[in-house]
Amino acid sequence: MSDGYVWFEGVPFPTKGFTPEVLREARESFVFKDEDVLILTYPKSGTNWLIEIVCLVYSKGDPKWIQSVPIWERSPWVEAEYGYNALKDKEGPRLISTHLPIQLIPKSLFNSKAKVIYLIRNPRDVLMSGYFFYGVSSFAEKFESLEEYFEWFIKGNLPYGSWFDHTHGWMTMRGKENFLILSYEELKQDTRSIIEICQFLGKKLEPEELNSVLKNSSFQVMKENKMSNYSLLQGQCLSKNGILLRKGKRQALPSKCIRIFRGHHDDNSRAPTIGTRECLSFST
Ligand code: A3P
Repeated sequence: MSDGYVWFEGVPFPTKGFTPEVLREARESFVFKDEDVLILTYPKSGTNWLIEIVCLVYSKGDPKWIQSVPIWERSPWVEAEYGYNALKDKEGPRLISTHLPIQLIPKSLFNSKAKVIYLIRNPRDVLMSGYFFYGVSSFAEKFESLEEYFEWFIKGNLPYGSWFDHTHGWMTMRGKENFLILSYEELKQDTRSIIEICQFLGKKLEPEELNSVLKNSSFQVMKENKMSNYSLLQGQCLSKNGILLRKGKRQALPSKCIRIFRGHHDDNSRAPTIGTRECLSFST
């Protein structure tokens, strides 16, 4: 186990804003309500993009909310100290985010009808996205090289542990009525996923409202929105030039890494059945 993390039940967490006490209390005592909406991802899978979309669906495309309130306040992280305290006594329907693996999620989720939107992303893009993001952050352990980072990704020695375990765990919820699974790749491809989100949340948007959701959650507009691009955290948990929205598209992975990665995945009996060919495509 490495000292560069806060550890809880064998899973590493960022060193800032997380404690075993809050993680335990959240799991045992946080009460999900039927009207809550939970945004669920492994880190670097497009979490903040999904939050932005859901906020805009709720505001029917009106960007006032996303332009005036930081994204982590609109949808706090239930496992983080700050988020847990902001959420636990909040009245009314709540928008909640989490990266927790299934075994650490507040137990009450399984007895509630809270709606869960689970966004998955091709692991090689998750890997590369994390490589750049953790490199500019001050809450994850520092790696020496891409090779070392790659090994850590495979072993799960990164915030929230293994992508493989996380995905395998949550995919067991597939087919549940209150559980919508989407992929980053499909979200990028066309508007169908956004329409699915609206239907899942029971929101009917007019065509111009939908257009505004698309426009205001686009990569370029989000990258400029200081309430969503994490520039407010520069100099705190991000370096002076650290950014969240980097490329939003596929990044070349060294061929050595692709070989090990593909081998690990093909040969892994725990490999999740994701259901979208795109999501597990390792082609360059
Ligand atoms: P890259 O690092 O590949 O660019 P998370 O929010 O889970 O930390 O995920 C961050 C990733 O989502 C980053 O990927 C970021 O660029 C991408 N992302 C954020 N907003 C996006 C948007 N509006 N459209 C497409 N990708 C977006």
